[in-house]
Amino acid sequence: MKKYTVTLMPENLKLQAVENATLKDVFGEYGIKFEFPCAGTGKCKKCKVRIVKGSSEDEVLACRFKVTEDVVVEIPKMEQKHEILEEGVEREVELDPLVKKRYAELPPPSLEDNRDDLKRLTGNVPLKSNLKVLRELPEKIRESEFKVTLVTWKDEVLAIEKGDTSLVHLGMAFDIGTTTIAGYLLNLSTGAEIARVSALNPQTKFGTDVISRINLASQTPDGLEKLHREVVNELNNLIEKALAGTDFKREDIYAVTTVGNTTMQHLFLKVQPKYLALAPYVPVFSEPVVVDAAELGIRINPDGKVFAMPNIAGFVGADTVSAALACEMDKYDELRLLIDIGTNGEMVLGTKDKLLACSTAAGPAFEGVHIACGMRGATGAIDHVKIEEGLKYTVIGGGKPAGICGSGLLDIVAELLKVGIVDKRGRMAKPETISGPAEIYKDRLRDINGFLSFVLEEDTATGQPVFVNQKDIREVQLAKGAIAAGIQILLEFFGAEVEDIKEVFLAGAFGNYLKPESACRIGLIPPELEGRIKPVGNAAGVGAKLALLSEREYERAVRLSQNIHYIELSALPQFSQIFAKKIVF
Ligand code: FES
Repeated sequence: MKKYTVTLMPENLKLQAVENATLKDVFGEYGIKFEFPCAGTGKCKKCKVRIVKGSSEDEVLACRFKVTEDVVVEIPKMEQKHEILEEGVEREVELDPLVKKRYAELPPPSLEDNRDDLKRLTGNVPLKSNLKVLRELPEKIRESEFKVTLVTWKDEVLAIEKGDTSLVHLGMAFDIGTTTIAGYLLNLSTGAEIARVSALNPQTKFGTDVISRINLASQTPDGLEKLHREVVNELNNLIEKALAGTDFKREDIYAVTTVGNTTMQHLFLKVQPKYLALAPYVPVFSEPVVVDAAELGIRINPDGKVFAMPNIAGFVGADTVSAALACEMDKYDELRLLIDIGTNGEMVLGTKDKLLACSTAAGPAFEGVHIACGMRGATGAIDHVKIEEGLKYTVIGGGKPAGICGSGLLDIVAELLKVGIVDKRGRMAKPETISGPAEIYKDRLRDINGFLSFVLEEDTATGQPVFVNQKDIREVQLAKGAIAAGIQILLEFFGAEVEDIKEVFLAGAFGNYLKPESACRIGLIPPELEGRIKPVGNAAGVGAKLALLSEREYERAVRLSQNIHYIELSALPQFSQIFAKKIVF
């Protein structure tokens, strides 16, 4: 058998390939790390490589391209900047998708074997079928010469496909946030991720926070319908976007999982969220809801299912359950703390034997809301600041700053505290009172729009200075006070001390970019825990993916939602006292 050399650039690695082997075979043989999201069926188009020398084609699919001469191949470097956090710390699970596909070659009926068609299909396993499946069954199995693929969820046959389609098996996981939506298209036959997509939640045009959306849904006649339509349409757009450039079709998707806070889950399912905003803040449902995709208007295979993951309480939703699943909060002997700071701040504390959760209205400041120069963590935002022999900062995407995002805000407050321009009570010093090393920053302090402000930069993308003012610092104090108080109350209920916490998982975009040092300096997180902080990215998104890939993980999420004990902070008399103490830096 003839052999050829495949040279991999830019590493200049030389691999030997037998004639007609695909690049996928060759990479596999040498253990080259390369993703083949559709298992080499040629459909996803994600395995493109550049042929530098040795073929007339410029770009080929590594799973399809056969080696017939010496070739030089360049593997692309994937560099992307995500403004919406789609990434999270992944973990491996055994592939056992929630919706399964199984190929079967059935023995044709005969006078000796005259079992009915359905029994022939399902064998000894008692599977339920719906009327549509029964109606299609006789022709489908005969037209495909008794070679069919069964699509099942639990003990129900959702559909029958002709021939072997077991490798064409997709699912989509969504994290529906109040502000942004992230979606992941997964190949359920390999576990690989085919695409990640994201968009702003279009409901934001009706209000940036959950309360304004609840009001719209409960106080205007078509409010709920409108909010529901917006999110369903956006999920459909994202599904299309994820499939674009691949040969897969939306009919190849049979399962969708969704997570989000409790309000988002209600609005997505068009369930009235009114009572979430009224004490005692009870949701309509907490259990997972499984719906026919067609009924919800989600455009995947019309026989597919949508799995809205379970919630815990009115203000601790499926996103927290999902993040707890991603971080395996139910497996540790020693104490772990999960903090997810989004538009709200949710926290889960506990061990495998006992888990507690609470929610605080903490997030908006860290998402740039109610902050004079605040903006989301997008291009143009100052994301880190350091005061050390001058003021230094970095801007997302480079270039001139247009504003400041949550992590930048946290840094600047921590730094101003460090140099003494802000005191422990959060008061900004008047320029005339500043002496010593901080004097060089005196000129940055001035009155802007009636508030004492500290200017970070004059030369900006907007032509207006980027600054933080006294009011911004108060907002940070309120947010950090709420989170710090939440942590203390969870510890009290658990009967543990700060030192007992072995690890802190920080989820969400803000959690991912913040400097632990700054978070600890301002007391958002107890300083004792500085070395134990682990950013986990979009853990809610990871959990939604895990549930799609593994029925066991889905069941585990359901158990987590039932076992995490929710604590309503507003019902606790000690909350306001602790909160007032925690406001101090
Ligand atoms: S792995 Fe090659 S096209 Fe999907």
